[in-house]
Amino acid sequence: MDLRVRVWNSDAGGAGGCYTGVMTFEIVVTGPDDFPAITRPGLIGFGRAGIGSEQLEDIRRELDVVRMLGARIDGEWVGTIGDFPFELTLPGGATVPVAGATWAAVLPTHRRRGILSALMGRLLDDTVERGWPAATLLASEAGIYPRFGFGVASGYSSFRFDPRHVDFGADVASTGSLELVADPTQAVATAAEIWDLYRVTRAGSSSRPPVMWEYAARDPEADREGFSGLMWVVHRDDAGRPDGYASYRVKDCDTFGLPHATLKVVDLVAPDPAVEAELFEYLRRVDLVRTVEMPYRPVDDHLVWRLGNRREMVTVETGDFLWLRVLDVAGLLTSRSYAVTDELVLGVDDPFRPATSGRYLLRTGPGDPECERLTDPGVSLAPASLTGGSVDLAMDVSSLASLVLGTTTPSVLAAAGRLDARPDVLARADACFHTGRAPYTNTEF
Ligand SMILES: CC(C)(COP(=O)(O)OP(=O)(O)OC[C@H]1O[C@@H](n2cnc3c(N)ncnc32)[C@H](O)[C@@H]1OP(=O)(O)O)[C@@H](O)C(=O)NCCC(=O)NCCS
Repeated sequence: MDLRVRVWNSDAGGAGGCYTGVMTFEIVVTGPDDFPAITRPGLIGFGRAGIGSEQLEDIRRELDVVRMLGARIDGEWVGTIGDFPFELTLPGGATVPVAGATWAAVLPTHRRRGILSALMGRLLDDTVERGWPAATLLASEAGIYPRFGFGVASGYSSFRFDPRHVDFGADVASTGSLELVADPTQAVATAAEIWDLYRVTRAGSSSRPPVMWEYAARDPEADREGFSGLMWVVHRDDAGRPDGYASYRVKDCDTFGLPHATLKVVDLVAPDPAVEAELFEYLRRVDLVRTVEMPYRPVDDHLVWRLGNRREMVTVETGDFLWLRVLDVAGLLTSRSYAVTDELVLGVDDPFRPATSGRYLLRTGPGDPECERLTDPGVSLAPASLTGGSVDLAMDVSSLASLVLGTTTPSVLAAAGRLDARPDVLARADACFHTGRAPYTNTEF
């Protein structure tokens, strides 16, 4: 496929700039023969040029799983976008296949000419063709992806605390046993099993392909940022079955002879919150540690609510994590569960993929929800026509992405001017989409 974009030079032609020519590029699905040249836009784009052969080999392994699209001009790769095949958990525990977009990068010499837009258009087309109802990604900058219909789908809080000042106020009931697993391959195999039990309990979590676990087992030194190698502690229930794990690193340090180590939690995972609390208690009691860092925890982390002195667990950062792009509105909305029985007509506007725009009748309830499209594909709905009697909730497709997993409520989106509905309808919609727990994932891709 050849794509032609007009090249805008903002430095030329006075204050307004001018078009200086036309650039033609092709977008192709890349393969093993394109490695390592295909990594160039990404390595330059993410400031990683000049990485060593070991890191390059890690990328090669990743690209065995990632389906990579490349934009090429006269034989030179100028842009890329890839995707992992993930299973994403929805409220209620169902999982759906999604494209986890990654490696979105364009050479600085070719930026702002529409190359990412073209790559994203192709990625979303291909995802629809595969029959997958959505795409996800982690955004390097929040301003990039709303125009492509992505909306924030999960958030995180990062905590820091001095373990001497944080406790549960009462002893945590201890069940089963804890084991420090020395062999990383064995630790990772057990962790992967527990992860698969956990991820279906939490909307927003997704599968982790073996390549990610293999990477964790190798634990390359270049990724440790001065910390130790990964340590793995596994919790087993009374019958000896693994049901929780934590992986963490320590950076040793002493000041005037006093211990001052920092412990960084990488994963703290258990389907049962009580087991998660036991693992937290283990991490809190590691000797010589004066600072514990727990990055990328759920925004509604139950551990904070267990503490006697919760203010000691300082939130050092909070932000958006997963972004979601709804491609099959009916398919996605009927795959999740709802708190109450109701009937709502959603008006969805999708400027980037007009074929998704339309009115959808959603019937929710404790049983199987139903959703049917009421208008022809491609009908563009102006905001004014969305607020009439024929639509209960009118919103842009990126706002819908923030409702699917229960990230926020219709009322909050309405207050932000991102959704239109009458106040009585808003209250009903809030009840429908309510999930009880914030969607969460800490899987980086
Ligand atoms: C982000 C990046 C991929 C954009 O590629 P690009 O080819 O320049 O993007 P496009 O030309 O298709 O831009 C499409 C639109 O998005 C806007 N846009 C692009 N990058 C943006 C950013 N970082 N912030 C806000 N808007 C941005 C453009 O201005 C353009 O808007 P317009 O259509 O109104 O003119 C590229 O700048 C890059 O490689 N950055 C460094 C690596 C990175 O951050 N990648 C994203 C990883 S999640």
